[in-house]
Amino acid sequence: MFLSREEAFGLLSQFGSPLYVYSEDILRARCRELREAFCGRIHPSFSIKANSNAALLRMIREEGIGADAVSCGEIFILEYAGFDSSEIFFIPNNASEKELCFAAERDILISADSLSQLEAIGRVNRGGRVALRINPGIGAGHCDKVVTAGHATKFGIDPALCCEAKKIIKAFDLKLTGVNQHIGSLFLEPGPYVKAAEALLAIVLEHFPGLEFIDFGGGFGVPYKKNEQRLDLAALRDGLFPLMDSFTAHYDNKDVSFKCEPGRYIAAECGILLGTVNAVKECFGRRYVGTDLGFNVLMRPVLYDSWHEVQLIKKEEDGGCASAPLADVTGNICESGDIIAASRPVGDAENGDIIAVGNAGAYGYSMSSVYNSRLRPAEVLKTTEGKFRLIRAADTLQSLTASF
Ligand code: LLP
Repeated sequence: MFLSREEAFGLLSQFGSPLYVYSEDILRARCRELREAFCGRIHPSFSIKANSNAALLRMIREEGIGADAVSCGEIFILEYAGFDSSEIFFIPNNASEKELCFAAERDILISADSLSQLEAIGRVNRGGRVALRINPGIGAGHCDKVVTAGHATKFGIDPALCCEAKKIIKAFDLKLTGVNQHIGSLFLEPGPYVKAAEALLAIVLEHFPGLEFIDFGGGFGVPYKKNEQRLDLAALRDGLFPLMDSFTAHYDNKDVSFKCEPGRYIAAECGILLGTVNAVKECFGRRYVGTDLGFNVLMRPVLYDSWHEVQLIKKEEDGGCASAPLADVTGNICESGDIIAASRPVGDAENGDIIAVGNAGAYGYSMSSVYNSRLRPAEVLKTTEGKFRLIRAADTLQSLTASF
């Protein structure tokens, strides 16, 4: 954890509980690691659905990383954070023509996720540039809900339809500048990503000459459990580079570039979620540590059964005992599934202690909600100089009624 006990308590008393806290150092380190691992040959674009805080986006941009957006809202935030149209790639799913126009008017490249979307892009942007999202038939991910390629997913164009796609491109006088794919989210072994890249390159060689770029997608995992191995980026690179070399040797455009779309890898580990213990109890022999960390604040454990490490930070220094009884860390939402971490050794928690949740920087705040009319927390940045800066205010009671 990048916070001391004193810092954690100080932050909650200053900014309220719960609270998201991010480390600038860790965020920048992950950006640099990725860029260095790919030696400038695969350009990362940050998938901002993982974390769309403008302060973090500005730092990611400073690190030379572009961005992917899936909605007009994400495009709007990216522009606010200083991204230029040429740095944004729009990869929506089932977008309306109005949304497609929003991107086209800004000259942002759009990827078509189906032939029907391709036609819609043709209608709103005849003669413009376009990309195609291909489903390579190989998927991966931490659970079925986030596997986005293969034979049972709503995403991407079936390679069997490439000829149809080319006809539509011609009919609307579109210029196909690139193809992209995304096999799913969170894998820790390079195998499926490399296989899918190989499949995509073969499809491009067969069907799509003259492309400017090929985008292999995101999905790079981070270890959520203490004993998990990190994704070996060097092994991923060593799997991809020979494929890219042999592809380029056979491809007509030798200047074709390569991209990837990491979200979690860049943002997950720089974020901690802090919450407060409000009630401790035993019920029919089971122990519960009741906190303000409801699933409106961090949805992943409830939605995907995801594991996050939790750490108890006691009010009193040296207050914790090494072998505390197991307890479920629960939130304050009125559903019995509202458990952020089950059977963890935090049973000696008392009211006023802090629960710190690790790896909360990706798909944490960005998936939060006001369910139960609870307020979304503030976000704070720990800068490289060790200062704390508010980078998003918490919701207020007034914000709950502002749009009535
Ligand atoms: N590109 C596309 C087209 C995507 O749909 C996604 C994520 C990414 C890139 C980035 O994937 P990443 O590198 O972050 O794995 N809420 C889930 C994850 C959903 C991912 C959705 N798409 C979770 O909390 O695990």
